[in-house]
Amino acid sequence: MLAIDCDNLSKTFRGKRGAKVEALKNLSLQLEQGEVFGFLGPNGAGKSTSIKILMGLVRADAGTGRLNGIDIRRAESRRSVGFLPENPAFYEYLTAAEYLRFVGGTFGMSHPQLSIRSEEVLKRVDLWEARNRPIRGYSKGMVQRLGLAQVLVHDPQLYILDEPMSGLDPLGRALVKEIIIQLKGEGKCVFFSTHITADVEETCDRVGVILKGELKRVEAVDDLMSQGISAYRVVSSDAAGAGEELVIPEKLGEVLSLLEGQGRKVNLVEPVRKNLEQFFLDIVREG
Ligand SMILES: Nc1ncnc2c1ncn2[C@@H]1O[C@H](COP(=O)(O)OP(=O)(O)O)[C@@H](O)[C@H]1O
Ligand SMILES: [Mg+2]
Repeated sequence: MLAIDCDNLSKTFRGKRGAKVEALKNLSLQLEQGEVFGFLGPNGAGKSTSIKILMGLVRADAGTGRLNGIDIRRAESRRSVGFLPENPAFYEYLTAAEYLRFVGGTFGMSHPQLSIRSEEVLKRVDLWEARNRPIRGYSKGMVQRLGLAQVLVHDPQLYILDEPMSGLDPLGRALVKEIIIQLKGEGKCVFFSTHITADVEETCDRVGVILKGELKRVEAVDDLMSQGISAYRVVSSDAAGAGEELVIPEKLGEVLSLLEGQGRKVNLVEPVRKNLEQFFLDIVREG
């Protein structure tokens, strides 16, 4: 059973004076259980629209979708989904502990189950100390960590996160990445949107690039990292130990024998890769 399976999802918004915005064009995408997928695209590309359609917050004009095998038109499809919206907002008069009790309750968790899980999760996101203070007094980072706690509390199978790392400080980003990697270790599927390529490089199995409502490319991150060799860096030294570094775009073999012929010792040969950032920029420029 696929974690996410959608076929030709499309959405056109009608703006002021009937102006049309084709926010999403024929999105087809299949995500396996246990995979981490980065949905990468610039602002306005259609990431949030896609996510809102999957979460039943926006209705697609066309196409179909399934979460864990259940049609997205049925609320039941979201029972085992942890969802982090782009700008999460909370009832500020509640405390973090109360809020998690409310969320867990809506997912039908029993009281004892919820109190054990709540403690685990609040400790995980470093809000245990603050759990009995009203959310109103939380810093921005604390509010975002509460967003994560809310996603984790009912231990869902699938995680749909809209820009979970945006606006976080380095510690916050590291925490989100750790949690994503941990979820993957537990065999969970994570689908998250971002406009930052580095976030994808470090956590994702696959990346999909979306641009102006169209999913342009889907690639395995490992393949991308090994595909894009643009040159080799060769470090060699002479008999006296004096080093030299060369970056050669081609004919590696010839250069290596030439160096050997000169009596130089080759200390390092390393591929120079096109990184994900360049891959992303290339697609954006083509588009
Ligand atoms: N409710 C809406 N009404 C009109 N236009 C919308 C609405 N929601 C999104 N859009 C437009 O759809 C496009 C995609 O938006 P969005 O999915 O939020 O992009 P992203 O999340 O990738 O930044 C944008 O041009 C945006 O202005
Ligand atoms: Mg968005």
